[in-house]
Amino acid sequence: MSPFSSTRFHSIATGSFAMASTCPAGSIVKEKYERLPDYAAPTHYKIRLEPDFSSFTFKGCVEIDLDVLKATKVLKAHAKDLSISGITLKLANGQELPNLQHTYSEKSTMLAIDLPIEVTPQKVQLKIDYMGVHNDKMQGFYRSKYLHEGQEKWILATQFESTYAREAFPCFDEPMYKATYDVTLVVDDGLTALSNAPVRAESKEGKKHIVTFDTTPKMSSYLVAFAVGHFEYLEQKSSKGTLIRVYTVPGKKHLGEFALEVGTKSIDWYADWFGIPYSMPKCDLIAIPDFSMGAMENWGLVTFREIALLFDAEKTSTKQKAYVALVIAHELAHLWFGDLVTMKWWTDLWLKEGFASFMEYLFVGYNYPEMKIWLHFLNDELASGFELDALKNSHPIEVPIDNPNELDEIYDSITYAKSNSVNRMLCFYLGEESFQKGLRIYLQRFQFSNAETNDLWKCLSEASGVDVMALMSGWTKQMGFPVVAVSKVSEDDKNLKLSFTQKRFIADGSEDSADSLWKVPLTFSSTSSPDQPFHRTVLSERSSEQSLAVAKGEWLKVNQGTTGFYRVKYSGELLEGLLKAVANQTLPVLDRFGLSNDLFALANAGQVPISQVLSFVESSLKENEYSVWRTLDLGIVRISDTLAYFDSDGALKKRFDRYVTDLLAGVLDRVGWEVAEKEDGQVSLLRGLLVGRLCKSGHQPSINKAQAMFNAYIESNQKIHADLRLAVFGAAIRSGGDKKCGFPEVERAALIALGLTDPTSGRLEKLFDYAVAQGKVRSQDLMQIFVGPAVSRDGQKFIWNFFKSNLSLLLDKFGGANSGLFQRCMKLSAQESCSEEMAKDVETFFCGKIDATALATLDRPIKQVTEHIRNNVKFLAFAAPQVDEYLKKKGY
Ligand code: BES
Ligand code: ZN
Repeated sequence: MSPFSSTRFHSIATGSFAMASTCPAGSIVKEKYERLPDYAAPTHYKIRLEPDFSSFTFKGCVEIDLDVLKATKVLKAHAKDLSISGITLKLANGQELPNLQHTYSEKSTMLAIDLPIEVTPQKVQLKIDYMGVHNDKMQGFYRSKYLHEGQEKWILATQFESTYAREAFPCFDEPMYKATYDVTLVVDDGLTALSNAPVRAESKEGKKHIVTFDTTPKMSSYLVAFAVGHFEYLEQKSSKGTLIRVYTVPGKKHLGEFALEVGTKSIDWYADWFGIPYSMPKCDLIAIPDFSMGAMENWGLVTFREIALLFDAEKTSTKQKAYVALVIAHELAHLWFGDLVTMKWWTDLWLKEGFASFMEYLFVGYNYPEMKIWLHFLNDELASGFELDALKNSHPIEVPIDNPNELDEIYDSITYAKSNSVNRMLCFYLGEESFQKGLRIYLQRFQFSNAETNDLWKCLSEASGVDVMALMSGWTKQMGFPVVAVSKVSEDDKNLKLSFTQKRFIADGSEDSADSLWKVPLTFSSTSSPDQPFHRTVLSERSSEQSLAVAKGEWLKVNQGTTGFYRVKYSGELLEGLLKAVANQTLPVLDRFGLSNDLFALANAGQVPISQVLSFVESSLKENEYSVWRTLDLGIVRISDTLAYFDSDGALKKRFDRYVTDLLAGVLDRVGWEVAEKEDGQVSLLRGLLVGRLCKSGHQPSINKAQAMFNAYIESNQKIHADLRLAVFGAAIRSGGDKKCGFPEVERAALIALGLTDPTSGRLEKLFDYAVAQGKVRSQDLMQIFVGPAVSRDGQKFIWNFFKSNLSLLLDKFGGANSGLFQRCMKLSAQESCSEEMAKDVETFFCGKIDATALATLDRPIKQVTEHIRNNVKFLAFAAPQVDEYLKKKGY
């Protein structure tokens, strides 16, 4: 799943460590960030933690076995928000250096421990006693609240990636420093304590329960995890003997059945696919009520948002069920890709995120074919990667990271969706067998150790005989992606001669100043070979020509199966052939998607007339595939939303929406409102999409029906199908309904729907006050209330003003400017508007309101948002007259 999809929780934007030009005057130049010195490295940690549920503080003691590598009079280690009470160093000869003094740097979050003598290379043991606080920021060793039988209860959990292990124990908190861990948790009697490894021993000391865990494999600090609380669980052994448990807070374990199934299946599937057994006897999957991300791959103790792990057959939508399968599959792929083999530094974050993302689809594709997951890949990964990467303010997949405290924003659609798509392209290019062989070599060679991107390319080259680095570095080191223009040079009865030209595709149609070039794997299909490429080649130059065996009258599709991370722009005649193949549905679905998505993007960039995409939609009316409709719908919405800014009474938008509802009402008639027995999930998704769009575009019969369904739900608890829930809630709330609920996905739909209330009714003020100021909505879910208002002009105005006047409150709730959740809120609050004035406001607003570090962190996100707003302005300018003319012709 991609960061942009409604089921995901990433930041959408990326950060920067260089010059921040956000504030017009006095640009910030950031100092180089301090890394750990290389004169000592940890080999083993012994950690003992004693959390106190009454004060929400914990007592800690850590003993770190260190290899001193160079003679030194100082030792450095990370720590944050810990109060240190004693430091002792034990030398190899047994001598103890007690009561060591230290200084602390807020900036690098490091302790510098002064040594009274110069310590020469040897094995030493560093012991630190300290206290810490269980915070509410969903990072470090934090607390999370839930209600049980009406009572407020707490659990403790951890989130250490990327730089929060240092908030729980002093450590060498960089991914290169792998060590083994012995963890002991001292907890109140009756509480369950969990950590990465299985329990080795349990004992009692007064009212305390002492739980000692086995030694972990050698691993990076960001993968350590603890959880303490009243939990219940389901368990099952996988066929290969790994014990999988699904933990929840009390009363929810029955919702873990599906997760247990996916967990046991996938852990064995990966062990086979990677050819390496899982490294521990157990793996727990635990749902945490407050969780900043979707999930986290702590080795042996994987943590999840409740919505990403729990499944209710009655209440979970088709999309959400697939999301649960994907998230589990993603995290368990990390047990190899990330945990066993870890990137040397965060620059290569994509090595774990891009591959876990690709593996999640591979697993679900093979094991849950009914989910048709590769169709969803197109919208959720490919299209979302395209969207961010088409901005001039994108960044390369391999992105230099200086200060890891600011890297949350790199967990974006480039690191996830583009990396994932580029991996898929490579897998198709090499063939799955060679791809798998290369990955196996890589995992085997670097297990319990660290690697860089080039290491992976070497392994894949060894396996395939292809120079993978030469092929791929353009895709991972350059930002952006190409659009390949294809036109006919000549033809005879059997052959077609074509010319190809590549250049970077930029969202607003402007030219690439960097003159980027890619090695583009071109594949071709045609009427006589619709499902398999009948020819492949790599376009390495700017332009080339090629003769292909395509007979007169046949259609030709470039980028067969939409497996490449590039767009295609066809000349008029070639496109005409394809349009016929769309109308008569002989073009396969993946290609119909690719063509639709490319056409809308080209139209948005002003490279294809709007009339052409609208008539394309008309020729797609026979389309029955959700994934194709999803991309068509997004294209339509972009036009409709932008038109809202054309005239003050929204007349053009209303005409356009009427045109849209006339088209879509027919499609909904065909699909029907009633769910057929054993219906394909894709049909149900399509129904939800159509109802949602028709209601939002003002189609009265659909609105009436949705309202009736909502009323029946409120009055007599009549079920609403999960896939229709958001559409129905939205329709009802736009006209004034309300309802309380209990299941996370239902709550989220309700939050989004509440945001859809009429912005001029005064109810948005109430909603935002209730959710934010009164703190009635969990911080992890707050961004959902921004989603609804972002779709209308008045709503956009409201949220941007709200965002501005509540900046410090929001920063506090999300834990700072580098928080992915905060950045998502900022994006939602500003991005969909459409005026130069607004772009300027976003550019200057933050100046003087946040410190230099935060400003630098937000530099690229702000640039991305303002670029997006300005693209909307440009799009409106050329699209509105074209839409107007087209609608007149059509009688609207
Ligand atoms: N390692 C990440 C979680 C993470 C992200 C930690 C950002 C710190 C900062 C985890 O493996 C992940 O990618 N989770 C995804 C879900 C997944 C299906 C892509 C998420 O949280 O959305
Ligand atoms: Zn991940």
